[in-house]
Amino acid sequence: MSVRVGILGAGDMGRMHGDMLNKDPRVKILGVADLDEKRADLLAHQCGAKALSTLDQLLELGLDAVYVTSPNWTHLEAVTKSLAAGLHVFSEKPMATSLADARLVMEAVERSGRIYQLGFNRRFAPVYQFCRERVEAGFEPMVVNIRMNEGEMTNRPWITDRARTGGYLNENTIHFMDMLRWLVGEPTEVFALGEANCYADQVDFVVAFKFAGGRMASITTSGHATWFYPWERMELVGDHEAIATEEVLRVMHAPGVAKPAIWYDYFQVTKPAQWGYEGGDRAFVSAVLGECPSAFPASEGFKAMTLVEACYESIRTGQKVVL
Ligand SMILES: NC(=O)c1ccc[n+]([C@@H]2O[C@H](COP(=O)([O-])OP(=O)(O)OC[C@H]3O[C@@H](n4cnc5c(N)ncnc54)[C@H](O)[C@@H]3O)[C@@H](O)[C@H]2O)c1
Repeated sequence: MSVRVGILGAGDMGRMHGDMLNKDPRVKILGVADLDEKRADLLAHQCGAKALSTLDQLLELGLDAVYVTSPNWTHLEAVTKSLAAGLHVFSEKPMATSLADARLVMEAVERSGRIYQLGFNRRFAPVYQFCRERVEAGFEPMVVNIRMNEGEMTNRPWITDRARTGGYLNENTIHFMDMLRWLVGEPTEVFALGEANCYADQVDFVVAFKFAGGRMASITTSGHATWFYPWERMELVGDHEAIATEEVLRVMHAPGVAKPAIWYDYFQVTKPAQWGYEGGDRAFVSAVLGECPSAFPASEGFKAMTLVEACYESIRTGQKVVL
């Protein structure tokens, strides 16, 4: 049986997922909808699908699942409408542009009983899966440092409009709100600083997190750093053991004092596999086919957004937020 898929939004992410799905023999892409006719035509042609303009037109095709790869402010309506039509949904992150809207998405998913997978691709990226495997094997991260940069914020016209994205932390850093929860646990306190350097909205942040058991983490992020390598780096320090990632290409494991550190590199792996897009799409299709459960529940996306909201509250009030 093929999973009949429609793609809403034929921009960068629509093309990425379209390419992955097109290579999956379990999938048949029936339609691609984009307000930009040329983009819809191009991707539809590549996928052997119909080029359309709107979600409503997609929903008329008799689909099993929709990929929502349109911008953030469209996610709430597109996801809830598709679920109400009985479809499974893969939605690019974030869930929505506000916590209240994310709650509506989560509740709609729970009501529908359909598969909903959010684009937390790093959960499927080999370097972060290595970290998770070490944690599952007993490694306890006690001090975590995350640096995540964007080179510039001019590549998509809507990207620095907080009303349309929910803010830089919701658009970009949300990936590491999720990684922190996935690898360290639920934070208990957060204190954040944020500045609007170089752009009208805040794109520079320094955030500190406290967890139960004396564990701590920081995230430093900038939206105007140039694309110097690595854009993102995570260091996890445990009990005389450490792990450090360099973007999604290399991960270092230092197993103990005076022991050699081991580097694993993923340079030879394809880009969609390095970034976890391929693994995420495969997991979604497998869940839709009933071969495995949903990779993670919608509440994971909502909880990551509560951390985003807590950061903005801390910046507004100048106080730490107890979670
Ligand atoms: N997981 C990741 O690593 C990752 C990376 C980049 C972007 N994203 C997310 O993916 C989503 C899309 O980002 P992108 O970089 O592909 O953006 P993009 O601007 O390249 O593409 C978005 C496309 O959606 C179309 N569109 C806009 N409104 C529409 C509507 N109402 N109906 C149909 N089409 C519409 C636009 O014409 C455009 O072609 C965003 O939510 C973004 O946050 C995720």
